[in-house]
Amino acid sequence: MVLGTDTGVGKTRVGCAFLHGLRQRGLHALGMKPVATGVEDDGENSDVRALKLASSSGIKGMDLPVPTQWMNPYSFEPAVAPHLAARRVGVTISFACLRQAFHQLQGCTDAVVVEGAGGVLVPLSEEGDMVDLALALDIPVVLVVGLRLGCLNHALLSAEALQSRSVPWVGWVANRLEPDLAEEEGQLETLRVRLPLPFLGVYPHAATPESGASVLDWETLLAVGENRK
Ligand SMILES: Nc1ncnc2c1ncn2[C@@H]1O[C@H](COP(=O)(O)OP(=O)(O)O)[C@@H](O)[C@H]1O
Ligand SMILES: [Mg+2]
Repeated sequence: MVLGTDTGVGKTRVGCAFLHGLRQRGLHALGMKPVATGVEDDGENSDVRALKLASSSGIKGMDLPVPTQWMNPYSFEPAVAPHLAARRVGVTISFACLRQAFHQLQGCTDAVVVEGAGGVLVPLSEEGDMVDLALALDIPVVLVVGLRLGCLNHALLSAEALQSRSVPWVGWVANRLEPDLAEEEGQLETLRVRLPLPFLGVYPHAATPESGASVLDWETLLAVGENRK
């Protein structure tokens, strides 16, 4: 599960890079956006579209499309926090429904890459927040840190939140959001020292998800999958 230090930090980019990297290694891989908020003019959410494009086509071994309802069980028009978007239309986001969709996806692929929404403690419903969802799906988390002013605090707070809730970690990815960020190397060095989890790589500025996949630590990533079999 790809969680971020905030909204707009690169979860979708890095999530798509994971999907490409898995597929480049011969695996069938599908993206999932459990809850999307904000739709484009064509009525589709841009994260869902990007994840679909980066995913394998169809159900593994069959000439059948993957139902959008599995890849994106909840989609709300306004670009506001998930539980507020749901409340506006009288919907309650159900963890049972999200778990069911996730298990459907798991059953028709080798790997599911789930993208969160916003930061790690974004509320979803009375049942819990994004971290609770990772726990409910029983999947390990990758934290995407969007490198910008303020990211040290966001990253360290996110790490504390994940640790205090005993979420299984894979590691963290730094995302070069800006081409010329002041003290970028200093920020990276600080995070490598202070974040208590494996560092999986720096996603370059303006890299496509295909090329971005090549900078990630696939040995660590694939070992996680092997250990969970
Ligand atoms: N490495 C990068 N280089 C250039 N632009 C980026 C990079 N990562 C993200 N962006 C841009 O920043 C914005 C937010 O990225 P996105 O992956 O959608 O974040 P999130 O999913 O966390 O909201 C998008 O417009 C995206 O194209
Ligand atoms: Mg996104």
